[in-house]
Amino acid sequence: MSKSKKLIVGNWKMNPKTLAKAQTTFLLISKKVTKIASPKVQVVICPPSIFIPKIISKKVLLGAQNVFQEAEGAYTGEISASMLDDAGVSFVIVGHSERRARGETNEIVAQKVKAALSFGITPILCIGEATRDDSGEYHAFLKKQLTESLSLIPKTWIPKVVIAYEPVWAIGKNAIREATPEESEEMAIFIKKILSDLSGDAHKKTRILYGGSATVNNAEAFLSKGGVDGLLVGRDSLNPENFTEIIAIAKRV
Ligand code: PGA
Repeated sequence: MSKSKKLIVGNWKMNPKTLAKAQTTFLLISKKVTKIASPKVQVVICPPSIFIPKIISKKVLLGAQNVFQEAEGAYTGEISASMLDDAGVSFVIVGHSERRARGETNEIVAQKVKAALSFGITPILCIGEATRDDSGEYHAFLKKQLTESLSLIPKTWIPKVVIAYEPVWAIGKNAIREATPEESEEMAIFIKKILSDLSGDAHKKTRILYGGSATVNNAEAFLSKGGVDGLLVGRDSLNPENFTEIIAIAKRV
């Protein structure tokens, strides 16, 4: 996928409560996306997996919020990349901080990145520090997260991965504060440098997203000054009006 296209991803997390509400929300978003359709913006929504087969989508691509690393077998409760592929999923969020907080290590994340790509699903690899320190330790933390999470795939596959920079301190309704577009830009440059060390020119083709309290109010600033190719939106992706406005902003930025 070309980097000139903006990528707007909605992460619905464990919402909404019912399939009926999920279908209504999705329909409202996809109707608007069809109206404002633009080759300049790619839109992905990641609903809870149980709703995915019941959502019909044309202009909006479907993503999952997690994948299991093994292809099949005795793994109670898990969903494989081949199952997601069969259900029409083309993107999957991998290593979200809310999953890392419950034990997902870089090693597991690396296996998931590889599993997704093996079935032609684009992983949206989430990285981000929990806190910032004056001595810049968070740079080393981020470098470790990124390099270890990409360690199981050939260098030539790196441009197929979307990297989402999500500072944990800026995510969700308990966020300490919003990140600034300048902070996003600084980290996007840092990520590109790591990618370039890993695989030469790969960083030129790898898409980077900003996520963490990205809303209709700051989307323009992050998209124009944040040094990124798109956004990973949590709460505001459940609000059809706001989410489609973010898409409209991405179209004109
Ligand atoms: P938020 O979530 O936009 O609600 O902060 C972002 C995310 O966790 O992906």
